[in-house]
Amino acid sequence: MESQETAKRPIEEPVDAVAVQDAEPATKRVKLDDAPVPQVQEEPSQPQPQTEDEKPKEQRQDDRDKRRGIAPIKAEYLVVPPSQVAKTAEVVDDDAAEGRTAPDAETGAAGKDGKKKRPKGQNKEREFGIFADAQRLCNSVAWTPEFSPRNCKHGDRCNALHDIRKYLKEGRRPDLQVFGGKCPVWETHGKCSSGWRCLFVESHMKEVEHEDGRKELILTEDPSRIKPETTPSVPLEEESMDARAGVYNVVAPAIKLALSRKKIQHEKSDQYLKWMAKDSELARIHYHKQKDDDDVAKDYAAQYVEPPLKPSEKRRIYFGRETPVLAPLTTQGNLPFRRLCVELGAEITYSEMALGLPLLQGQKADWTLMRAHESEITPPRYTPTGLLDLAYDNAKDLKFGVQITANAPWIAIKSAETLSRYLPHLRVIDLNCGCPIDMVYKSGAGSALLDAPSKLERMIRGMSMVSGEVPVTAKIRMGIRDDRLTAQKLVERLALGAPDIRAVSGAPGCAAVTLHGRTRQQRYTKAADWSYIAECAALVKSFNETSNSLQDTIREADERSLPNGGRMYFVGNGDCYSHVDYFNHVDNAGVDSVMVGRGAIIKPWIFEEISAGQYLDKSATERLAYVQKFAKYGMEAWGSDELGLNYTRRFLLEFLSFFHRYVPIGLLEYLPPAMNDRPPAYKGRNELETLLASKNYLDWIKISEMFLGPAPPNFKFQPKHKSNAYENIEAEG
Ligand SMILES: Cc1cc2nc3c(=O)[nH]c(=O)nc-3n(C[C@H](O)[C@H](O)[C@H](O)COP(=O)(O)O)c2cc1C
Ligand SMILES: [Zn+2]
Ligand SMILES: [Zn+2]
Repeated sequence: MESQETAKRPIEEPVDAVAVQDAEPATKRVKLDDAPVPQVQEEPSQPQPQTEDEKPKEQRQDDRDKRRGIAPIKAEYLVVPPSQVAKTAEVVDDDAAEGRTAPDAETGAAGKDGKKKRPKGQNKEREFGIFADAQRLCNSVAWTPEFSPRNCKHGDRCNALHDIRKYLKEGRRPDLQVFGGKCPVWETHGKCSSGWRCLFVESHMKEVEHEDGRKELILTEDPSRIKPETTPSVPLEEESMDARAGVYNVVAPAIKLALSRKKIQHEKSDQYLKWMAKDSELARIHYHKQKDDDDVAKDYAAQYVEPPLKPSEKRRIYFGRETPVLAPLTTQGNLPFRRLCVELGAEITYSEMALGLPLLQGQKADWTLMRAHESEITPPRYTPTGLLDLAYDNAKDLKFGVQITANAPWIAIKSAETLSRYLPHLRVIDLNCGCPIDMVYKSGAGSALLDAPSKLERMIRGMSMVSGEVPVTAKIRMGIRDDRLTAQKLVERLALGAPDIRAVSGAPGCAAVTLHGRTRQQRYTKAADWSYIAECAALVKSFNETSNSLQDTIREADERSLPNGGRMYFVGNGDCYSHVDYFNHVDNAGVDSVMVGRGAIIKPWIFEEISAGQYLDKSATERLAYVQKFAKYGMEAWGSDELGLNYTRRFLLEFLSFFHRYVPIGLLEYLPPAMNDRPPAYKGRNELETLLASKNYLDWIKISEMFLGPAPPNFKFQPKHKSNAYENIEAEG
């Protein structure tokens, strides 16, 4: 989603605003000189030092002076003299990557020197070119043996090729030689959903001779590799793009069509929304009366009517120390990337944010975001701790949740009903209340909900009412503006309901809240506020106790309908970049778990570090292997034909736009590494390491070509976040 932001902001954030973390004492420094060093032995992570925010202010200043936000790269790896280090240090704009425009993107204002500045920040109107075969192959023959085509719907008017031999010869580029010329999809699954269009088709086709002497081209399968349970129920017909082995939550085209034609009923939502309209009116009157005249205030409770339906019993979920969470990440958090993270130890994952209304309208793009990989529909890791275990059934839990946003309760509520009905593999439905993008915010969705607490509460209440056994959760920020933090009040509301109605209507049913420790206003260059997160965590603990006693005393106990028997989980988020950060937050901020966003894109093995409890200095070869995996997983999810392959290439480049920022810890003078540290220009321990650190997208395309073959001539890629250093390179190159 591209931002439409036009707000004017100060031109430059001061460099000092960059997050500074405390350096580890010299005695704990590790020696990492000899490449390759696969693992760094580090002390187990506790007890942890104070968090940055717990320190006295003066001390923080000292650290800042010491580091000044620049990665402490050892002299021998610097490619510029020390005096140039600060100049070459890359400034990245993650706000642009998330979809917000950078401060001066719109203005292109003249700088101090009078020269017109080139617009920086997010590149708008990103185009990626059109990827297609030179001549199209008709769907009627794309997956069938040469002599058994299906009926072509278009008959004589069809202008696509129906001759497979001709197509293979002239219709497309020759087979690729990457992956040893073997189809990575077929190698894993024993068949290939790209059929004749696969750019590795030579590896899964043959010519058979019939008794009458005719020779027929056929696609081969290897039944021994085909796992029946991974074959989705959608037939390999029209939407063969949709049927991929290992991909779940694929919704049949007929359902999307019915949605688009408004042929789908939302019975529960309709019933509930009718009731909600009346109840909201009652609450409104109550609210105004109370303000004007306390004595005459009619008691809301006396007039309260129970909703016409009760929520179903919710599946219980679990967030804990052993379940690091991968953040919902638009563009970046696609299925192949999440698969990679799960393989490396992410225990909980979220879809990219989908918009509620297009989902209700059956729009393909938003439904596609709801798909999960096989590895995401297995239970998260979990160590029984006693009490909780009585009701939590780990075997029924899974990793994958979806995230939606909406600007009106009816959209959120109907979306929840629809999602829970058509998606069989859903851990939770998460409501995005943090998205800063202007287009979303101005519509009243995303972070706008932070300033609309009663609307937010009605959404969560209603969603939970109609979502069947699927729990509902929320992801919030600290507030909209830096000078007005609202998360504490919101968290209270999500846990217990509005103060004046909670006694009658009970808790809204929010199973978990994730708090990103920033405001909407705040830029990524400023550190997330973990002391504020810690305060909220403490509040949630006390609310959970209150919630239990509320249930016992005031209302007819309805424990079944409360998520986790009345316990709301609390997850912290912001700037987690290593196992040290992770355990520090779990232990000192009191959060149940930590959600990792950019840290996972820059360093997907952060999850491995968390399970190992130590820094892992991955060699360039190991890092390249992750790139290769992404390419393979991309083709499995999107296809190994011209279209799927270049779709994979596009998202691989998006991945590399973060991945290149990893500074191997073996190159650092001291630890810990910090995500917001800007690396000066440096070279790696070998050529490959240097290449993987390149800020130039042309190098990223080169890297993609190692696994996806040559990019088509019309292939375009513009990184979402341009950095100043990147522009220098571009200017030089
Ligand atoms: C590229 C990008 C895309 C994001 N997309 C989403 C999204 O779709 N939904 C959401 O709730 N947050 C989104 N976020 C915010 C992250 O989930 C997370 O809250 C934020 O990055 C802070 O965590 P971090 O410091 O670990 O990156 C996005 C962030 C980035 C950088
Ligand atoms: Zn045709
Ligand atoms: Zn294939």
